[in-house]
Amino acid sequence: MPGKVALRHDGDVAVIAVDNPPVNALSHDVRTALADAFTRARDDANIRAIVLTAQGRTFVAGADITEFDKPPMSPSLSDVIALIESIQKPVVASVFGTPLGGGLEITLACHFRIAASGTRLGLPEIKLGLIPGAGGTQRLPRLVGMQKAAAMILSGDPIPAKDALAAGLIDEIFEGDPAASGIAFARKVLAEKRPLTRARDREDKLVALRADPKTFEEIVAVNTKRSRGLDAPAAAIEVLRAAIDVPFDDALKLEREAFVRLRAGDQSKAQRHIFFAEREAAKIPGLPKDTKPREIKRAAVIGAGTMGGGIAMCFANAGIPVTIVETNADALKRGLDTIEKNYRASAARGGMSEADVGKRMSLFNGVTGMDAAKDADIVVEAAFEEMGVKREIFEGLDRVMGPRTILATNTSYLDVNEIARITRRPASVLGMHFFSPANVMRLLEIVRGADTAPDVLATALAVARAIKKVPVVVGVSHGFVGNRMLRIRSIEAERLLLEGALPQDVDGALTEFGFPMGPFAMSDLAGLDISWRMRKAQGARAEIADQLCEAGRFGQKTGKGFYLYESGSRAPRPDPEVESLIAATSKRLGVTRHPLDRKTIVERLIFPMINEGARILEEGIAARPGDIDVIWIYGYGFPLWRGGPMFHADTVGLSYIRDRLREFAKQTGDKRHEPAPLLDTLASEGRGFGSLAKA
Ligand SMILES: NC(=O)c1ccc[n+]([C@@H]2O[C@H](COP(=O)([O-])OP(=O)(O)OC[C@H]3O[C@@H](n4cnc5c(N)ncnc54)[C@H](O)[C@@H]3O)[C@@H](O)[C@H]2O)c1
Repeated sequence: MPGKVALRHDGDVAVIAVDNPPVNALSHDVRTALADAFTRARDDANIRAIVLTAQGRTFVAGADITEFDKPPMSPSLSDVIALIESIQKPVVASVFGTPLGGGLEITLACHFRIAASGTRLGLPEIKLGLIPGAGGTQRLPRLVGMQKAAAMILSGDPIPAKDALAAGLIDEIFEGDPAASGIAFARKVLAEKRPLTRARDREDKLVALRADPKTFEEIVAVNTKRSRGLDAPAAAIEVLRAAIDVPFDDALKLEREAFVRLRAGDQSKAQRHIFFAEREAAKIPGLPKDTKPREIKRAAVIGAGTMGGGIAMCFANAGIPVTIVETNADALKRGLDTIEKNYRASAARGGMSEADVGKRMSLFNGVTGMDAAKDADIVVEAAFEEMGVKREIFEGLDRVMGPRTILATNTSYLDVNEIARITRRPASVLGMHFFSPANVMRLLEIVRGADTAPDVLATALAVARAIKKVPVVVGVSHGFVGNRMLRIRSIEAERLLLEGALPQDVDGALTEFGFPMGPFAMSDLAGLDISWRMRKAQGARAEIADQLCEAGRFGQKTGKGFYLYESGSRAPRPDPEVESLIAATSKRLGVTRHPLDRKTIVERLIFPMINEGARILEEGIAARPGDIDVIWIYGYGFPLWRGGPMFHADTVGLSYIRDRLREFAKQTGDKRHEPAPLLDTLASEGRGFGSLAKA
C-alpha cells in the first residue's frame, strides 16, 4: 500500500513511519501496510532494531472511527499488535503530538517508548462510549499501575509526557526529530544490550493488588463519580479487574467482547453521533469556506452581572483583554469582586496559581462609560433583558465604536434583527447567547441575524473557538433553539403538576432518564422570580409557579420554592405545603387528579420538545438535527449517552412519537402537540431525523 506507511533503513535500524494525514488514523490500509512493513523488518537479517514513528503533526491519534459501523476488515489492530509483540528485535515507538486510543495501544505493544516533550498520551475511548479494544486496558495497568491506568481509561483525558515518564509509560522524553531520536534510542538499546520486556509480561505493578482486592474497589470508586447511567465505565471496570485476576490472553478476549458489545450499543452510537455533530455544527451553510474572520485583539462586555462577569472571564481566560462597562461604580465593583472571588476559589482548588489570578485580573478594565471601550474589536452586551435598555445601549455603541467593531447581544429571547436595526451597521450585529455560568458552560448559540455579514459570523465562530466554547449557529426565533424548546417543556411540566404529579415525581422521572436535574429543582436553583417577572410583563401566567412567587417562595435563595431547603443546604426536600397548594389549584380549576407513571411523564416532557425541534428544523432556525442535539447536550444537561433529543427520537421511533403526540393533543387540548409536518412526514415514510440530508 504505497504512501500510507514508509519503511526505510538507517544502517541496521529500520524506520517505519505512518503517513496518513491529517492525524495518521489507523484505517484499514494503514494497518495492512504496517503489518507488511513489520513483517519485512522482522525477516530482514540485516535489521537489528525497529523504530515506529509517523510523519506530519502527530503520531497516530486513534482508530478510524468512520470504520466503526462497517464490517471488520483484517488485519485488525490487535493482529498488528500481536505481530509487533512477537518480534525478537528491539522495537522502539517514537511518538509526538497526540498518541491516542489505538495510537497509544500500538505504542504500548513496543518494547520501548519515547515521546517528544509536549506529547499528550491517552486512551479517550470512554468519551465515545467505548473502552480500548486492542489491549489498552491490559497493557496500561502493567506499565503504570492500576491507579494511574484506571484514571486515564475512565476519564479519557490524556496526560503530558512528563507525567507519562514519571508513571513509567515512556522511557525517555526527547527534543527534536522523532525518527532521529528513535534511531538514537534504538542504538543505545542495542549497545547496552537492554533486555526486551513486553508490557504483557510485566506483573510487578499488579502483584500488590492481587493481595489486596479492596484497593481496586477504592480506585474504581474515585474514578466513577460521574458515570451514572453509562455502560462504558462499568465495562471498563470489569476488564480492568480482569487485568488483576484473569490470564492475559483471556483478559484480551474479555476486553474485545466488551468493546464489540459497546460499539454496537445505543450509548456509543449516541456518543459518536455527538462527536460528529459537534464538528458538523462548525460548518455553516452558505458561509464561503475562505471567509476571513475579522481580527479580535480586545473585547468589551456591557454589564457586569451574572452573565457579563462570566463572559468577561471567558475572554480573560483566553488572554484577550476585556473592558467591562457598567452603569455605576457600585455595580462595577460588585461585578469585578465576583470575578476575583471566582478566580480565588479556583486557585484554592488548585486550578490556577495565585500569580495567575493576578495575571487574569490585570486583563480586566472596569469602566462606567462606554467611551472607554471604544478600542474593542468585539462587544458583548449582557445588560437587562428589556428592549428599551438594549436600544439605548446599541445606539450608544453604534455612536462610539469603530465602524468594523462587531456588536453582539447575549439576549435570551429578544429579536436580534430588531436590535441589529437599532444601529447603522446591522451587518456587524449578531447574537452570542452564552449559558449560565458563562465561564463554565461550553455551549454558545451564535444567533445569525437576517443582516449578519458572513465575516462577522466567521469571526464569532473564531472567537467561540478561542474561548473554548462549542458554537452552534442558530436563526432568530423566540428563545432561539434551546430556550424555545425548554419553554415547551416548562409548560408541560406545570401541566403535569395540575393533572396529578408532584414536583418530585416530575424531577425524579427526568433524573432517572439521565438529566442531572429536573425542571423544578432547576427553577429553584435559578430563582423563580426571573420568569415570574417575564410572565407578568407578557401578561402570561403559570398557575403554580406564580402562586409560589406571590408567597415569596423564589427558590433556593429564599430557602423555599417548589421544594424546601434547610439552611445552608442545596438538597431539595418535598414540601407538604406545596403539595396542598397544587392539589387545591387542581380542584379550583376543575381538574381530577390522577396518578402519572414515570414513562408517561418522560414522554409528556420530551416528545413535545422533539416536536418543537422538528418545527425549528422546518423553519431553518437550526440547520441540522445534530445541531439541536449538541445544544441540548452542552447547554441543558440532556444525557450524552442518549445523543440529544433528535437522536433519541430516532431510537424511540418517530411513528410512536407521532401517535403519542396526537394523544397528548387530544388530552390537553394544546394544539402545539399536533405533530409538526416534518415529523409526520418522516414518520409516515418510516424515516428518522438522521436521514435528513446533511446541510
Ligand atoms: N442569567 C442567565 O441565566 C442568562 C443566560 C443567558 C442569557 N442571559 C441574558 O443575559 C443578559 C444579562 O442577564 P444577567 O442574568 O447577567 O442579568 P443581571 O441582572 O445579573 O446583570 C445585568 C447587569 O447589566 C447592568 N446594566 C444594565 N444596564 C446597563 C447599561 N446601560 N450599561 C451597562 N450595564 C448595564 C446592570 O447593572 C447589571 O449589573 C440578559 O439579556 C439575559 O436575558 C441570561
